Amino acid sequence: MQEQLKQLKNEAIEKINVTDSLDQLQEIQVEYIGRKGSITTVLRGMGKLSAEERPIVGQLANEVREAIQNELSTKKEHLEKIELDKKLAEETIDVTLPGRKVTVGHPHILTSVIEEIEDLFIGLGYEIKEGPEVETDYYNFEALNLPKGHPAREMQDSFYITNELLLRTHTSPVQARTMRALDNEPIRMICPGKVYRRDSDDATHSHQFTQIEGLYVDKNVRMSDLKGTLDVFAKKMFGEDREIRLRPSFFPFTEPSAEMDISCKTCGGKGCSVCKHSGWIEILGSGMIHPRVLEMAGYDPEVYSGFAFGMGPDRIAMLKYGIDDIRRFYANDVRFLKQFDEA
Ligand code: DAH
Repeated sequence: MQEQLKQLKNEAIEKINVTDSLDQLQEIQVEYIGRKGSITTVLRGMGKLSAEERPIVGQLANEVREAIQNELSTKKEHLEKIELDKKLAEETIDVTLPGRKVTVGHPHILTSVIEEIEDLFIGLGYEIKEGPEVETDYYNFEALNLPKGHPAREMQDSFYITNELLLRTHTSPVQARTMRALDNEPIRMICPGKVYRRDSDDATHSHQFTQIEGLYVDKNVRMSDLKGTLDVFAKKMFGEDREIRLRPSFFPFTEPSAEMDISCKTCGGKGCSVCKHSGWIEILGSGMIHPRVLEMAGYDPEVYSGFAFGMGPDRIAMLKYGIDDIRRFYANDVRFLKQFDEA
């Protein structure tokens, strides 16, 4: 029996030595020193031993059990350490690796152009105003001297919500709204915003686009003030070497009315495909506020005069950055938008 126990001990220790798995260690423990393990089985035969032999075998059994337990514990500690080291090695953070780049967005090119124009006019003492995109027929047309049935309404065929409500076709209604809100006080304001028309979408038309309205009302405002202001704007926006020209035009809310062109940069005024061989590029509509528009808004046209202008930031951005299709602004193609990171 003593031989048997010693053999079991050697066997167990041998197994412990060769294993490198914690699961197997557990199995060895159960196999040898568990409640139903080999040592217990051997000890079941103790009854057959003499009274002298029993305590000797009992003591040996305890020693064997202890020895196996010690071996198991030492090996377990060893394997656990290896496992932990392996885990730590796997989870090491390489602080020398370059960081992952965080991509930061930037303003849309139209927003940048609008902000540039806003800055310029703020520098000239203008305020920035806003108006509703869902507008009444009254402010969109009537208050601008475009009564119902006026043929000029045709040019701005529109998205109606009801007979009296529509998506504004231009930012000009903000002129009337601003004047109405004041009582014969001088005004210098610009109003950027979205406008809507039932245009078919092509390279130069979109059913939704942006405009910036300008309004200057005071005593003794003259056409030369309009021209001077537009000249400053054109040179700041497109370059000091640009010339402007005012061409007679018609708008129901201004009299006289003028369209402003800038000299073509591509050909220096000689004529090319960009300026349709005229040497000039149309930029905006403008004029002296029609006395009836002033009157309807509560301003006395005998005392007050003013000028107004309306421009399309889409068109300005297209000219400034050589963009060939207005629809690109609204298509959300990141490859296009990304090009204006620094704009
Ligand atoms: N509202 C006009 C349009 O959308 C543009 C315009 C022309 C605005 C002349 C003005 C102006 O303020 O004076 O076509």
